[in-house]
Formats: sequence, C-alpha cells, structure tokens
Amino acid sequence: MANSIAIIDFGSQYTQLIARRVRELQVYCEIFPWDVPVEKIGQFDPVGFILSGGPASVYDAGAPVLQPFILQSSLPILGICYGMQALVHSLDGRVEPCASREYGQAHITVDSENPVIPSGTHQVWMSHGDRVEKLPQSFQSIASSANSPIAAMMDKKKRIYGLQFHPEVRHTPIGQQLLSNFVIKVCHSRPDWTPENIIQKAVSDIQLQVGENRVIAAVSGGVDSSVATALVHRAVGDNLDAVFVDTGLLRKGEPAQVVSTFRDQFKINLHPVDAAEEFLSALAGVTEPEVKRKIIGSLFINIFDQESLRLGNPPFLVQGTIYPDVVESSATTQGKAERIKSHHNVGGLPEKMRFKLVEPLRNLFKDEVRKIGEALGIPEALVWRQPFPGPGLAVRCLGDVTPERVERLRQADAIFISELTNAGLLNQKATENNTIISQAFAALLPVKAVGVMGDKRTYAEVVALRAVTTEDFMTADWAVIPPALLAKVSNRIVNEVQGINRVVYDITSKPPATVEWE
Ligand code: XMP
Repeated sequence: MANSIAIIDFGSQYTQLIARRVRELQVYCEIFPWDVPVEKIGQFDPVGFILSGGPASVYDAGAPVLQPFILQSSLPILGICYGMQALVHSLDGRVEPCASREYGQAHITVDSENPVIPSGTHQVWMSHGDRVEKLPQSFQSIASSANSPIAAMMDKKKRIYGLQFHPEVRHTPIGQQLLSNFVIKVCHSRPDWTPENIIQKAVSDIQLQVGENRVIAAVSGGVDSSVATALVHRAVGDNLDAVFVDTGLLRKGEPAQVVSTFRDQFKINLHPVDAAEEFLSALAGVTEPEVKRKIIGSLFINIFDQESLRLGNPPFLVQGTIYPDVVESSATTQGKAERIKSHHNVGGLPEKMRFKLVEPLRNLFKDEVRKIGEALGIPEALVWRQPFPGPGLAVRCLGDVTPERVERLRQADAIFISELTNAGLLNQKATENNTIISQAFAALLPVKAVGVMGDKRTYAEVVALRAVTTEDFMTADWAVIPPALLAKVSNRIVNEVQGINRVVYDITSKPPATVEWE
C-alpha cells in the first residue's frame, strides 16, 4: 500500500540529506530527477512530494521546472528553497532576486498557525539568491525572516507548503520536527521502514529474484559486502557460496575475523583462498601506485573467477552497491570527475562478468546498512569498521611491497589503532558528530633514516601515522591527537616493531592531500 515519499531533485547538494532525514523518520522515500517521467512516479505511488533546493534561478534558461502532474496529483507537497520558488513560479506568484543573498544562519518568526512549523522564533539555515515576492493566490505566508518577508508559505487546503530555508541540515534545529510534521502528519505516512521490515522485504525480494539458483558472493570484511552477504544468506541459505580472497594485504586479525563471522557464526559456505603469495609475487618490484592498484584489481578478479568456476559457475553474484552509488551514477547533471585513483572494491566486481547481480542494499544509505547489519547480528567491530581500501596495505606500503615490509607496517598499524581505540578516539559508532576520528592508519614510507638505539647507530624505516576527521571522505581534516598519545604510539612502534626507527604524523588535509598516501 502506498506509503512513500517522492523527493524531486532540482540539483541541490542536500538532496541526499533530505532522503536520509525522511528515512530517519522510518518512512521510505526515493529521489527522482526533476524531469522524471510521470509513469515512474505512478509506479512508485507516493503519498507526498518533497521538492529539493537547487543552484538555478527559476528565470535561468533551461532551469528545472515543476512538472504539472505533481500539482495535478492533489498529493501534499513540500517545496524547499528552489522547490518553493519552482512552486510559486509555476503558479501565479512571483520570484525575484534578493538585493542581498541570504547565506548561513538566520532566524524566522512564525506568524500563522500551521501544521508544519511550530510557533515561535527559530534558527534556520538559508542559502538562496532569489526569494518569493508575491504569493500565488490561495497561499498565505506563515513565517518571515529579516531578508525574506515570505520565509515559508502554505495552501493549507491543498496541503502545499514552501520553505525558503533548509530543514534537512543540522543547522536548522527544528528541521527534523518540521519534516516529521509534513511526512507523518500531513502525508499520513506510517513509520514502517524499520530494520526488521527492511530485512523481511529484502529477503523476499532476493528469494523472488534468484529462486532455487545458486548465488556467489565475495567477502572481505568490508561493511557493505558483509551485510549484503548476510542478507542473501538469510534468503537462500546453503545456496550461497561466499569467497574470501586473503590477499595477504589485510590488517592484523582481519582474516580470522572474516572466517569466524561468516563460517563459525553465520554458518555460511565460506571458501577462503589464501592468495598472499600470489599477490606479493605479482607486486614484487612494483612501486607505482596506479600500477599496484591495477595489478591487485585484476588478480583479484582472476582468482575470484577461478573460484566461481570451481563452484560450478553460479549464475547470481551479490554486490554491495548502496543508494548513494546509485544516485550519484545516475545523476543527469554530474560531470565526469577526474580520476585521482582507480578504486578497487571487493564486491565491486565488474559488471561485464557474466553474473546476474543481486544488490540487496541498492536502496539503502550507509547508516541503514549498518542498522541492518546490527539487526542481522553481525559483530559490532565489523558493522562499524572504518573504511579500508580494496588494495589494502599495498597502497600503504610505499615503495616495494615485500612480505617483511608489509608485516612491519601491519604491526605498526595495529599499535596505532589499538591505542586510539583504547583512548576512545576511534569509535565509528560515535563519528556521526564529526568529533572523533573517522579513519586512521599507518603508512610505511619509502625512505630510511638514521637513528640511535642503545648507543648504536640505526638506519631503518620511517612510518607515518595518518588520522582524519571527515563526514564524507571527499574532504577531510587531519585529526588533532593529544601529544601524550602520539608519544606513546611512537614509543611503542619504535620499541616493538623491528626495522622502524622513526615515526612522523601527517598534518595535511584533503585537499590538497588525499586520505591514503597512494
Ligand atoms: P582518498 O585516498 O581517495 O580516500 O582520499 C578516500 C576514501 O576512500 C578509501 N579508498 C578506497 N576504498 N577501494 C576502496 O574501497 C579503493 O581502492 C580505495 N582507495 C581509497 C580511503 O581509504 C578513504 O576512506
């Protein structure tokens, strides 16, 4: 039965955030481009629309427009920023450029009782150049700010609302309340998008898709591929084979954790492949980062292919694709970004492989994936694991990737991680508020340095510690770590790891650096 919200994307950087906030209300929603065909919306069968903001002005040539079928649907509509302006423009109101753009924090005063914004004065987040000058007929203003006499509007009878500000960002403290009022009270959506229901629906969709066929998955210990695999296992049981390629480039304790989670705990048919030697010999003498990445990516595919053949070529492959990947790759306006690194992703096996894909996380945000992982009983350490690149320690072992150097790096990394964890600085579960480290690791540098230990000259390797805070890994700040903790880590690494006599801390943000060193 219809219960979902359709979010119409006018190109705002916050559109995905709107969707996440609605999902936080446990109501299902999907994002559609502003020019979505009416049939698609018909199939989706929403109970209301949210119109996103966007960078254009309604008067720009080729500016996105509000398609008439949205107004004709008689469903509730909430227009945010450009979404509000598009509403006004398509009705008989007037939008005009403001004399001074309003960007950042502002205050609105609510001057009419209404079902969406609580009465009083509220802090909100504004980001606009145009504003509504004349309301369409049948609309009334419900709030004003210093720069926007019409900061919010409504046609209560038609259940259409417009906000000049952004309720989806945290800088609008009443934002979530406001979205809840619209979604739950005005649209009458039921909050039924709970982990249990998501799991139930995913399981029956998977069963419908694969029937009695066999399915294969690649697991690495990464969050998305783990949750996808556990979901598919719940749906098809022993018809699933999971392949774990141990590249010899994982962090300390990771291979054992993968085996104990999937084989011992979930009783999944797990096929570990110890390919450490193969990877290390393929990497021998290779120092160029992109070449390392390419070698690892293609060797991984070869090994996986062989395993799949050995397992009788199952027709279906599990992929851990999540919603942001889907939205980003389908964005009509997105330009081609310059390739900085060729990413290799376990579970991101190329689509040209002959498999039909099972993608149970395709509609989920990362936080939903984690909630489902917890509900499925995947250990917390895995569900809340920090990101780890597919090429593993190879891209943190700058220069030659030899077994000795990888082991040296692995030990130094484990010391750094355990000290940060003990200090409570690396709890992924608490990183949402951005005060705690999002990712931390050690990188072994391709240089040697002179030192003195026990009155003896040493000439040994240098390790760099990297720790960043970030929300989305597109940009990142280096993390401020207490000096005493850095001193302890440095001391332990130099004393406990043979072959390292110097530890440095990376104080570069992204940009201009990247998070990884290679
Ligand atoms: P960079 O170094 O590009 O990293 O600033 C941003 C985030 O991406 C991770 N990363 C990867 N993840 N396969 C992955 O799955 C890869 O090849 C890869 N390379 C980098 C990196 O750890 C950081 O979280």
